[in-house]
Amino acid sequence: MVNYKELGLVNTKEMFAKALKGGYAVPAFNFNNLEQLQAIVTAAATEKSPVILQVSKGARNYANGTILRYLGMAAVEYAKELGWEKPQIVLHLDHGDSFELCKDCIDNGFSSVMIDGSHLPYEENVALTKKVVDYAHQYGVTVEGELGVLAGVEDEVSADHHTYTNPEEVIDFATRTGCDSLAISIGTSHGAYKFTPEQCTRNAEGKLVPPPLAFDVLEGVMQKFEKQGGFPIVLHGSSSVPEEYVEMCNTYGGKLPNAIGIPESELTKASKSAVCKINIDSDSRLAFTGAVRKHFAEHPDHFDPRQYCGDARKEMVKMYTHKIVNVLGSKGKAE
Ligand code: G3H
Ligand code: 13P
Ligand code: ZN
Repeated sequence: MVNYKELGLVNTKEMFAKALKGGYAVPAFNFNNLEQLQAIVTAAATEKSPVILQVSKGARNYANGTILRYLGMAAVEYAKELGWEKPQIVLHLDHGDSFELCKDCIDNGFSSVMIDGSHLPYEENVALTKKVVDYAHQYGVTVEGELGVLAGVEDEVSADHHTYTNPEEVIDFATRTGCDSLAISIGTSHGAYKFTPEQCTRNAEGKLVPPPLAFDVLEGVMQKFEKQGGFPIVLHGSSSVPEEYVEMCNTYGGKLPNAIGIPESELTKASKSAVCKINIDSDSRLAFTGAVRKHFAEHPDHFDPRQYCGDARKEMVKMYTHKIVNVLGSKGKAE
């Protein structure tokens, strides 16, 4: 058993309390490899932003869970080396799908886990989340639960879509499970194609404009938690799919037609509310791929991964820094 405290990591408790009060959101960036981790830590350490390093089940399958865990542990020491005296770094399991997987992460140095029972019938979601919380809290590990199902691109995205989180359920869920934060569904979705062109309108230049997020649902959830002084809310699927990276990919041989994300202005608006954690993965994939495609096109003679992965890392540092400074408002919140 390795407890996260021995590794210099922190859980989300105080981090979210400060974010809730301060009107900003903590970035939760997924990582699958060394370059993504280096770029995340560089941006967070430079900007003194609290940060959540997320490992998904897919990342564990790709890179090996043990390797990612050690990379997560290395993050704290690397941050200190970069001059961040008191790093505020969480190592978090993203979309844990079983008690056993969450337990394995808790026993091996993670400071936070998500148990995603959002696809289960309500009572089963409550029971599974409570089981994880009861185990995690013995070790000071914080737990994110989820209510409501994120829209897939195949779904109808409309204000009354039945998979949005039902505000009537949130108090019961949070009280009975004891979870520390709650992921909700208000119209975001995973990946680089968050809306179909049919779900969007077009602006004067003919560019796709996505439908707005269901801020009324977020408002409804926040109102329910008002009496207890608020509760940390999490947004998944919050990449903005920057046009610049989609274009970079497409200019240099890629094919990502009609890729579209969540406008940054909506993420900033959410960050100022009870939304304390915003999940971003696809934007890192796009920055990485765009930079690598450009590098290959401009340097067809290069074959050293340090050359093109170096470019990708630089681009990702730029992207992460932009999110911290200009979108989520977390710059300087972990001095
Ligand atoms: O929630 C989805 C994240 O972007 C992780 O994606 O399961 O492909 O690693 P992944
Ligand atoms: P994106 O695909 O929008 O980056 O969402 C990532 C996410 O929610 C990870 O859990
Ligand atoms: Zn997610």
